[in-house]
Amino acid sequence: MGLRLRSPLVVGASSLTDDLDPLCRCVDAGAGAVVMRSLFEEEIRHELGENPDSDAVFRQGVAPYLARIQRLRRALPVPVIASLNGTSPGGWVRLAQSIEDAGAEAIELNLYEPSSGPEEPSGVVEDRLVEVAESVAGAVRIPVAVKLAPGFAALTPLARRFEGAGARGLVLFNRWYQPDIDLDTFELTRELRLSTSDELPLRLHALGALHGRLSLDLACSGGVHTGDDAFKALLVGARVVQCVSALLRRGPGAVAEILASLRARMEGRGLASVDQARGALSLARAPDPRAWERLHYARLLKRPPPARS
Ligand SMILES: Cc1cc2nc3c(=O)[nH]c(=O)nc-3n(C[C@H](O)[C@H](O)[C@H](O)COP(=O)(O)O)c2cc1C
Repeated sequence: MGLRLRSPLVVGASSLTDDLDPLCRCVDAGAGAVVMRSLFEEEIRHELGENPDSDAVFRQGVAPYLARIQRLRRALPVPVIASLNGTSPGGWVRLAQSIEDAGAEAIELNLYEPSSGPEEPSGVVEDRLVEVAESVAGAVRIPVAVKLAPGFAALTPLARRFEGAGARGLVLFNRWYQPDIDLDTFELTRELRLSTSDELPLRLHALGALHGRLSLDLACSGGVHTGDDAFKALLVGARVVQCVSALLRRGPGAVAEILASLRARMEGRGLASVDQARGALSLARAPDPRAWERLHYARLLKRPPPARS
């Protein structure tokens, strides 16, 4: 995306960027960039209540976020990436321009859209997401990355559409915040659970399939908790890895741990730079591309299941 990063570990979008102190400690420990928590258009509209479309009122709602961009820019020696989640076509563009004016070095579009409407086919949802990316990328000069949740039936063609729409990066994946059921109260519950490394393979598959087929820079978001996780993501083609759950659980010290263990792994394989590692095991370059294919899947299912623990 044209950003110069001193390490491939990025602090991902979350409440982590609300406080300067832990964020500075992440950066001191080696984080290469930070993504701010998303600015949610619906939240601004909800908070503003009456006449949220008036220019002055809208600016007032966005002001605290823009002030935070400026504060982080002044305090941090690494790129500050703002994150945006809009709901109306005009809202996305307006917010993106304000973010650019405030000094963010890039924008991550959080295209989080759990579509449950019975009438809207997937193609219509995808068209809308691509339109959003196109309108935002066309309205700002800073690079725009698209952050997707998993579940698209044909990710590579969709990624190509984002590329055509002017996006420069793709962040895979956001996590769906799924409901659970409390059987005592008989209510639906929604609780934000932190990830584990078990969520990484879904990302490895998508990244590995996309690497080398697009000019979009790929970021892995989800399930990166250790240096080994980061190494795997780079090997399938991620340009950077984003961490959130690991940092929320273990604090800013996790940044140094992950980077030290990544470095040790790379040295162990005789890799002098992240560039040398990147994509070495992607679908396009894998020594055994069948490992990515369906044939392998069928074979895997026929193997005896793992022993019970
Ligand atoms: C507390 C919390 C807040 C988050 N806030 C945002 C957000 O504002 N915007 C966004 O795009 N993702 C947000 N995320 C998702 C993370 O950026 C990330 O995509 C996800 O947690 C997967 O990464 P992880 O496995 O390292 O946690 C949030 C996650 C957590 C745990």
